[in-house]
Amino acid sequence: MKKILLTLFSFLIGFTLHVYSQTSFLFDENMAVFYPAGFDSVQTLPSPAVERDLLPISDIPVDWGIIPVYGTDSGKVTVTINCEEGTDFYATGEVTGHLRRNNTEITLWNTDNYGYRNYGGTRLYQSHPWILGVKPDGTCFGIIADHTWRQKIKLSDAIKITSDGPSFRVIVIKRNNPKEIMKALGNLIGTINLPPLWAIGHQQSRYSYYPDSKVKEIAEQFRQREIPCDVIWMDIDYMDGVRPFTFNKTYFPDPVGLNSYLNSIKFKSIYIIDAGTKQEPGYSVYDRGIAGNHFVKTDSGSIYYGEVWPGLCAFPDYTRPETRAWWKGLQRNFMQCGADGIWNDMNEPAVFGDTIGTMPDNNRHAGGGGLPAGSHLRYHNVYGMLMSMSTYEALLEANPDKRPFVLTRAGFLGGQRYAATWTGDNVSSWEHLKMSIPMSINLGLSGQPFNGPDIGGYVGNATPELFGHWIALGAFYPFSRNHNGEPSEQEPWAFGPEIEKVSQTAIGRRYRLLPYFYTLFREASQTGIPIMRPLFFADPADLSLRDEEQAFMLGDDLIILPRWANDAKLPAGNWKKIKLEDTEDNYQVTVILRPGAVIPMGKLIQSTADYNTEFITLLVNPNEDGTATGTLYDDEGNGFGYRSGDYAMHRFDASKEGDRLKIEITLTEGTRRVNRHYRIGYVTDDEVIYTDYSSDTTQYMDMVNEITGSRRDRTDFTDFLMNAGQKICQMQK
Ligand code: GLC
Repeated sequence: MKKILLTLFSFLIGFTLHVYSQTSFLFDENMAVFYPAGFDSVQTLPSPAVERDLLPISDIPVDWGIIPVYGTDSGKVTVTINCEEGTDFYATGEVTGHLRRNNTEITLWNTDNYGYRNYGGTRLYQSHPWILGVKPDGTCFGIIADHTWRQKIKLSDAIKITSDGPSFRVIVIKRNNPKEIMKALGNLIGTINLPPLWAIGHQQSRYSYYPDSKVKEIAEQFRQREIPCDVIWMDIDYMDGVRPFTFNKTYFPDPVGLNSYLNSIKFKSIYIIDAGTKQEPGYSVYDRGIAGNHFVKTDSGSIYYGEVWPGLCAFPDYTRPETRAWWKGLQRNFMQCGADGIWNDMNEPAVFGDTIGTMPDNNRHAGGGGLPAGSHLRYHNVYGMLMSMSTYEALLEANPDKRPFVLTRAGFLGGQRYAATWTGDNVSSWEHLKMSIPMSINLGLSGQPFNGPDIGGYVGNATPELFGHWIALGAFYPFSRNHNGEPSEQEPWAFGPEIEKVSQTAIGRRYRLLPYFYTLFREASQTGIPIMRPLFFADPADLSLRDEEQAFMLGDDLIILPRWANDAKLPAGNWKKIKLEDTEDNYQVTVILRPGAVIPMGKLIQSTADYNTEFITLLVNPNEDGTATGTLYDDEGNGFGYRSGDYAMHRFDASKEGDRLKIEITLTEGTRRVNRHYRIGYVTDDEVIYTDYSSDTTQYMDMVNEITGSRRDRTDFTDFLMNAGQKICQMQK
């Protein structure tokens, strides 16, 4: 009640004091919201994206500058925002084309777009009504058009948003740099939940592996060939006639046995569940769906049917709390088969066989539990997000001690709270390989850091050369999954021994870098800062980096430079290439370490089931002043113990004193005790000089090492000094 009164009060203040034709106020530091005149909140709120109530704290400063102006164009609601000359635009979700979004127009209308062939690629599977603006001086602003209806975003000198729905509120936030704006976005729309460690491992998929003996054989091949991998995916052929929550009894007679076998060889299994429910009296999901009034209705009130993989289907109305509860029950039961994760697909929802590719705009969703009833035009863009939310909750209920992993194809701003995503049915082509980088970056800049494309391409056949380059890069996507459609084989060994070796090396790099990856996932889950970042994050005021879209950053400390990216623009400073292997091939990406960085690496393992941080290499590239810092996050890799302190965050402070390199290791957060041997990898221009691992495994072990030119002196690190919760090691004399 107090909240409502406050909001009403602010409306009154707004109307009396402001000259704007709309109500507006600051609800947080440098975060403003603008409501149109006559705003009808029932039409667009509650917001599925924004988690917070926006309560006024003060008027908008007179020099605020970024003011949405409401208008109409051919009868449609528009919002225009003038921007400072030289502003670069980014984000806008899952988009084809270039990283920099200036002079583009997209439609936010979740669309099944096989090969990205339709609509010139200007509509894809997801909708993120969020625009990131980076001004010439590197300061940033962000805009949320806070509604779900179909809309267009046009970015030229100004931002123009045109909605097919009613008028909506606009949120404008300002921050000093790109990382801060991502944190502010995370604060508004939430962040990813920390995934289970295995979901960060490499993954193998195909449409489709069947029967179950084929699934086992593929998993066994990875182990025999010593190509690291964590997950194998079951596409639609595991089902009985593509009926969700069923198994084909001939091909998959014993799913529990299959999953426990996969687990025994350190694989996890993920099963696809599509949105459409086959129209078939006698199929229990359909029968219960009818009985429970769970399906989306047409404008005339009958059940809507549309064609998808199983034939004619009805579509659960996930806007209804009762339907979500029902779906969760189905999903919970399904988890008894021992599946480790769930893949939600076709949930735009995709409908075959007519030109619009989905259900009609005027279909009806019933809503409930605070969500108003509404047309499909209103709820289409959040259909997939509501489905993946139900799936996420079901997995948590089924296995309360495990972190859920859900992958979804359709999504909306804020959907990262429930599911990771991939970029749908891309093509095995050089164009799509290269474009995957700006696509993934822009998704990350839209609040969805846990994403990646189908490695190797989904549509068509990859050549050995294309696959070699794609797997070399693909090992560094936040979500690293090789998936393809029929008929070609795309396992790492399908292209001959050379590419198999390339794949083994590339995927091995991901596994060796897991300590660094996992630390980045932790950061993303805490702050919203993406894992894969554009190069301008390194120096937001360096305009030459603004449209670099082949090289990218992993976290703050690594630049990933694909083999083909010869003319990439890199940030200034003494960034150093890290030589990660003794051997060379023509495919591996160049990995480059920031001056002033310490990054943790682990030993090569074949599955995250074998992950531990007992042996950690600290790669160090001191700054000009001889210092370098880094962090390492560690926990049990699954479960929720980390929420009550069962984790360890260590900080590494390296300093060069003369020809000695000293590293102080400090436990900065958490209560987890780790038993660790460290070694240093000192990165020089030509090589990495490694010390031996320290022989002592004391958990707070710090060490001092000596590096003289390219000669290294091995030292024992056994003498410790306790100091305010940290131990500083002194070299034994
Ligand atoms: C869709 C998905 C694709 C999947 C196929 C069959 O096209 O995008 O990844 O393999 O459906 O389920």
